[in-house]
Amino acid sequence: MALERTLSIIKPDAVSKNVIGEIYARFEKNGLSVVAAKMMQLSQEQAEGFYAEHKERPFFNDLVSFMTSGPVMVQALEGDNAIAKNRELMGATDPQKADAGTIRADYATSVDANAVHGSDAPESASREIAFFFEDSELCPRG
Ligand code: TYD
Ligand code: MG
Repeated sequence: MALERTLSIIKPDAVSKNVIGEIYARFEKNGLSVVAAKMMQLSQEQAEGFYAEHKERPFFNDLVSFMTSGPVMVQALEGDNAIAKNRELMGATDPQKADAGTIRADYATSVDANAVHGSDAPESASREIAFFFEDSELCPRG
């Protein structure tokens, strides 16, 4: 098993449903530890930069406006196979297709308001963690 880090965002819909703690409990019960966290209101520029890989997609403008519609909770998670583990806990992008018991099945509203973000590969995890956190802000948990 590889000790990895991944970037997680609790999106505005889940923050407004007041389930930050419920989602953190799922991370912690499944071997993922928070090694950095901040609550923030993303600017349009930050949301566009974070999701730059999707800028040609038809949903891009709606995604940016959703991600700037309210505060988000951003965290770096550490654990064995953290990237895949977090994606498994999140469930499919479309909550209607997400397995029962996943975060999106339980807390997402729709494919665009889908509760959480998680990095999808080691390269995106490194880039996304660096997008929000300085190295000195990461607190390894071992
Ligand atoms: P994507 O990276 O494909 O999904 P995931 O978040 O599971 O990695 O898409 C990024 C976000 O874009 C997704 O969480 C919600 C939004 N989105 C839509 O609004 N409509 C869509 O059809 C897709 C594919 C994504
Ligand atoms: Mg993605």
